Amino acid sequence: MSHRILLLGAPGAGKGTQSKKLADEYDLEHVTTGDALRARKDMETDYGTPREFMEAGELVPDPVVNEIVEAALTDADGFVLDGYPRNLDQAEFLSEITDLDAVIFLDVDEEVLVDRLTGRRVCEDCGANYHVEFAPPEEEGVCDECGGELQQREDDTEETARERLSVYRENTEPVIEHFRETGDLVEIDGEASPEEVFDRIRDVLDDE
Ligand code: AP5
Ligand code: MG
Ligand code: ZN
Repeated sequence: MSHRILLLGAPGAGKGTQSKKLADEYDLEHVTTGDALRARKDMETDYGTPREFMEAGELVPDPVVNEIVEAALTDADGFVLDGYPRNLDQAEFLSEITDLDAVIFLDVDEEVLVDRLTGRRVCEDCGANYHVEFAPPEEEGVCDECGGELQQREDDTEETARERLSVYRENTEPVIEHFRETGDLVEIDGEASPEEVFDRIRDVLDDE
């Protein structure tokens, strides 16, 4: 049974959606650099605030992100890690601080990714994720779970989404390639319903 799971995939591949399900099913900590950085958007660092990088679709400097991940993984018994590593230096750092049991890559075509990102809506109170077309709430703009207001992420405009995808191709695809070469990468077709994708991931984990 795997307890230290790394979930890789492009922006919009479904990392957050699947991580939440995995954390519930296997009683794991969900460690996600995107949410951690959004919670610290205006934190002053030697490099400026995370907000400046995130709203441009660029990567936040490694030292800032590495520190967040190291602290989170030190405290976690079992975890599903989402949003990290995004470049080879982060992958190197990760290999120094923990061992992984499973590395799963959610494969989704680029035009599907743009549709998923631009249609995403997030509850400002509880963080639940929706999609205007693929996973709409019962009442438009209102969270099913807590009644909170749904908002679009600042970086989910088409322009910034495409920039994030280009940063992903340049910096993060080499990380996917690295785990493919080490033989650790399990590739999963991420173009199916969230439930179907989850079943595929569970099959992989329960086989180990
Ligand atoms: P981050 O928040 O990690 O964003 P991301 O990697 O770009 O990925 P997303 O959260 O957009 O997508 P997801 O794969 O989680 O998809 P989701 O499940 O929500 O990072 C944001 C920024 O923070 C970065 O740009 C960078 O600036 C900074 N940052 C973060 N980590 C960093 C790091 N390590 N180093 C440096 N900087 C870092 O799904 C998307 C949508 O699709 C939803 O609407 C959902 O409802 C829908 N959906 C999901 N699954 C399906 C499905 N199977 N079928 C149909 N629709 C689906
Ligand atoms: Mg996410
Ligand atoms: Zn909510």
